Amino acid sequence: AIFFMLIFLAPLFTSSNTLKAREDPSSLPSNFLFGTASSSYQFEGAYKSDGKGPSNWDVFAHEPGNIIDGSNGDIAVDHYHRYLEDIRLMESLGVNSYRFSISWARILPKGRFAEVNMAGIHYYNRLIDSLLQKGIQPFVTLTHFDIPQELEDRYGGWLSPKSQEDFGYFADICFKYFGDRVKYWVTFNEPNIQATLAYRWGLFPPAHCSAPFGNCTVGNSETEPFIAAHNMILSHATAVNIYRTKYQKEQDGIIGIVIHAAWFEPISNSSADKLAAERAMSFFMSWFLDPIIFGKYPTDMIKILGPILPKFSRSDQEKLKNGLDFIGVNHYTSFYVKDCILSICEPGKGITKTEGYYEQNSKKNGVPIGQPTDLEWLNVYPQGMENMVTYVKERYNNTPMFITENGYGEEDDLQLKDKKPLDDLKRVEYMAGYLSALVSAVRKGADVRGYFAWSLLDNFEWEFGYTQRFGLYHVDFTTLKRTPKLSASSYKRFITEHNVRT
Ligand code: NOJ
Repeated sequence: AIFFMLIFLAPLFTSSNTLKAREDPSSLPSNFLFGTASSSYQFEGAYKSDGKGPSNWDVFAHEPGNIIDGSNGDIAVDHYHRYLEDIRLMESLGVNSYRFSISWARILPKGRFAEVNMAGIHYYNRLIDSLLQKGIQPFVTLTHFDIPQELEDRYGGWLSPKSQEDFGYFADICFKYFGDRVKYWVTFNEPNIQATLAYRWGLFPPAHCSAPFGNCTVGNSETEPFIAAHNMILSHATAVNIYRTKYQKEQDGIIGIVIHAAWFEPISNSSADKLAAERAMSFFMSWFLDPIIFGKYPTDMIKILGPILPKFSRSDQEKLKNGLDFIGVNHYTSFYVKDCILSICEPGKGITKTEGYYEQNSKKNGVPIGQPTDLEWLNVYPQGMENMVTYVKERYNNTPMFITENGYGEEDDLQLKDKKPLDDLKRVEYMAGYLSALVSAVRKGADVRGYFAWSLLDNFEWEFGYTQRFGLYHVDFTTLKRTPKLSASSYKRFITEHNVRT
């Protein structure tokens, strides 16, 4: 135990700043939310139960070849039936919040084209009430990648401007039924990832892509991500307007959006590479946040993409005003970025106009930006957390922020399965480093109001199925038994030390 404690605390003592942060628990606000995060498709299972309709992910995962291990979320970790047990796990962690998403197809099996499924409403009522009984605040995402298949079949989901009305309709129902108790709303989870993986790389439904981006032949990778994103941005604005005009005053909650926020570090000190890193931030993150906060796309996107980028009309701009109360930051990883306008980049590695003429690298002269991991996209670079939070603080005038996800994933090596899956020292170390960097950013003035670990449990990791594990609790995917890993106790200790339980 002592060894483990030393490992966990070691990064906190590496600089005088972080040492002070630890000595002064007030560096995190007293009402700071500490939680774990999840999503409906990755956790719930019960994919046909109690009137739920098919979602785009149900359909996609059932098509052979789409998920690496041939699995799907039909059962997932059966959270739908085991949420009480899972809330007990949260209780033992000492968290005061839980971030989860609502399955749209469970509430509206055919979108706005059929009745509300009351059994779906009752499920989320039970979940919300059980959380509140334990003093755990629900932090609710309206859509986390899964949408009713009906919307896809009728008019191509997010590619159609009609999706804006669908989303508004769904959001209204959620505010109406749950808003008396839910005080934190997220419209979209990582729309930047969704638009890119679904419409450029063909890895998420509806699996659109065109050369040179992937092997599929449906869609257009140059234009569709921007069309889908445009509809998502306006859908967000639609939901926020409904909340502001019909519910917010009475219900007294706040509403925001969650963006996947990788940190991009220039690979050299040259001004070309520095500009490339700025373009990477624009094309990845500000793509969504700038329109919602400033009413327009980032200037470099407008300049480079020209007519590819849809335009906001006057009335759109009006609608976008006052577009969020907080920014949700999902931060896991960092990359080096190299310019591809003046310098030559490797073909196929992000050199198109669509990607802002930059190349994302994992190494600089053979040296990685942080510790590489089992996962290609995940580099352990805690400084990235501080840099990212500071960047968002400065660009968006210190808008309140929540770290809505942060976590460490490992490849599920079947050979090692019976060895030590619970001794997740690498996850312990990862979280210690990132939390320490977060505390440091808060001490320097960033208005961060909460942190959610991804994830409470090992779960269904999208195109990777059950081959990657992110849980603080191990799940045996055959018996569905939950067992705490070391990271569960280290997170618990961190929360206790920072004394945030309200
Ligand atoms: C972010 C996504 O929101 C979540 O669904 C996913 O499982 C984690 N990243 C880990 O990749």
